Amino acid sequence: MSMWWFVTTLVITVFISNSPVYAYDNNPLQDICVAVNDSHTSVFVNGKICKNPKFATANDFFASGLNVSGIAAPGAGGAAKFVDVNNMPGLNTLGISIGRVDLEPQRLVPFHTHPRATELITVLDGILYAGFLVPDPANFFKSRLFSKILYPGDVFVFPIGLIHFQFNVGNKKATYLTAFNSQNPGFIFIPNSIFGSNPPIPDDVLTQGFQLSKTQITELRRKFS
Ligand SMILES: *[C@@H]1O[C@H](CO)[C@@H](O)[C@H](O)[C@H]1NC(C)=O
Ligand SMILES: *[C@@H]1O[C@H](CO)[C@@H](O)[C@H](O)[C@H]1NC(C)=O
Repeated sequence: MSMWWFVTTLVITVFISNSPVYAYDNNPLQDICVAVNDSHTSVFVNGKICKNPKFATANDFFASGLNVSGIAAPGAGGAAKFVDVNNMPGLNTLGISIGRVDLEPQRLVPFHTHPRATELITVLDGILYAGFLVPDPANFFKSRLFSKILYPGDVFVFPIGLIHFQFNVGNKKATYLTAFNSQNPGFIFIPNSIFGSNPPIPDDVLTQGFQLSKTQITELRRKFS
């Protein structure tokens, strides 16, 4: 009897202590929490403030436009469109968002991470080479690359926080949907974060950090700022 009690307690304890692993964004404490669109708010909470549910409408839970590509910035090589809490207020507290990416042939979505979300991509058109880096537990100065060539209908996942990239290896445009388990996944583009910071990271730090000369660092700053 006491043995079963011990095992049951252990199982419950392990479940409770591990359960935050399954939920990155806050779990909702109400049925709906449609975000108030108030850019002047001076109250900051972990998420957005809910509007009175009486004033919620179907349009708060609706978005359109993923049937067409976003507008590519000149030279960007592709375009992305995201439906997240910032343009679909009904997503507030739901821990989910989606996007569409269109990438020109032989162009790259450069090394980046999403600090708050795992990303799941589904290729709709074209051929992608996608990969992510996992720190090697035996030597954290090394990593392992997990990568795949992806065709229409293929799905690939980039675990939360890990550095990843997508490259269009085909000879026509590639289009894919991208889903996140966060209402606001965040984006950190590694080269731009480091070489385009404001204020800039001092030369001595960057030259030593990347084992490059000041001239090379200047060149990288110019490219990524
Ligand atoms: C995309 O969908 C919108 C409706 O949400 C529609 O107005 C538009 O014509 C569609 N565009 C194309 C190219 O299908
Ligand atoms: C929020 O309001 C701003 C202007 O105040 C507007 O540009 C933006 O589209 C609005 N966002 C939503 C999701 O309604």
